[in-house]
Amino acid sequence: MSGNVTIRDVARKAGVSISTVSRVINGTGYVRESTRKKIEDAIRALGYSPNHVARSLSKGSTKIIGAILPDISNPFFPTLARGIDDAVSSRGYTLIICNTDSDVRQEESSVRVLLEKRVDGVVFVAGSPESASLVRRASEQVPVAVIDREVEGVPCDTVTVDNFRGSYELTRYLLNCGHRKMAYISGPLHLSTSKKRLAGFRACLRDSGVNDEPHVFHGDFKYDTGYSIAREIIRMGLGITCVVCANDLMAIGAMRCFQDLGIGVPSQVAVCGFDDITMASLVRPSLTTVAQPAYRMGALAAEMLLERIEKGRDQSPRSRVLEPVLVIRDSTGGGGVKA
Ligand code: RIB
Repeated sequence: MSGNVTIRDVARKAGVSISTVSRVINGTGYVRESTRKKIEDAIRALGYSPNHVARSLSKGSTKIIGAILPDISNPFFPTLARGIDDAVSSRGYTLIICNTDSDVRQEESSVRVLLEKRVDGVVFVAGSPESASLVRRASEQVPVAVIDREVEGVPCDTVTVDNFRGSYELTRYLLNCGHRKMAYISGPLHLSTSKKRLAGFRACLRDSGVNDEPHVFHGDFKYDTGYSIAREIIRMGLGITCVVCANDLMAIGAMRCFQDLGIGVPSQVAVCGFDDITMASLVRPSLTTVAQPAYRMGALAAEMLLERIEKGRDQSPRSRVLEPVLVIRDSTGGGGVKA
């Protein structure tokens, strides 16, 4: 039959009422198994496809969730997205993922497109310095949950990790290994994750009586940047014994650079990161890092968002801070133990 098959046609062919067909399509209410089979056979025979827009307008819900992510080429974010998708799909929602490359124009177009599609809610990972205004704009129309990078001045549910403490514990471990001349490669310093990790690094040095100003280089969470800054560190001849990177991709880039220059890791210079992406345990030497529960962050933020969508938006914004875990591996001379 033609593409304009209606729910009425399905009901007639199956010999049931329209409301019974509607219950099968929406998965609501009880339908006898034999009746369900007749309806499903009729849907297949007629090639019926529910009119999603009409159904959405009648229900005031599209059952679609949007996720705005800054860099889906970084393995941290697909893991986080998997947590979001498992949570929303188990409740009958579809996930639309938008990648922004931390560019404000792409963040703007992502918010616009998702609102045009009438998504029921948005999970947002900030990337550009202007993200707060976009989170505010979206949250005026639909519930928004913020993950990983905090967004100041916009009251909405937030799930983060204790970045300060994770970085502090890592630095304390490095000091206990005897490192005193360390270089630090930060993430983009407009992001809360980057600021708090650098703050944790500095605070631990200060609390441990290491007063030498550390060499801090401004990175961007990218592999190539870790590689190029590592080369600059060697060119400068700083006598560094350890390079601390604000994420794993930069740390893996730095390790590759040292190995290309014939510099032993960790025998001549130790390297460590933050995230514990899958590659961290696969590279050689395996990477010491701070594990983030990325999957759990995504799932928890999605659960908080769905609760707000389904039970009303009057709840005051909630903030959940998850704990990171220090993972000691060979790139600092450790042995793969969780500290
Ligand atoms: O590697 C990407 C980084 O951006 C992660 O550390 C995550 O916390 C986010 O801030």
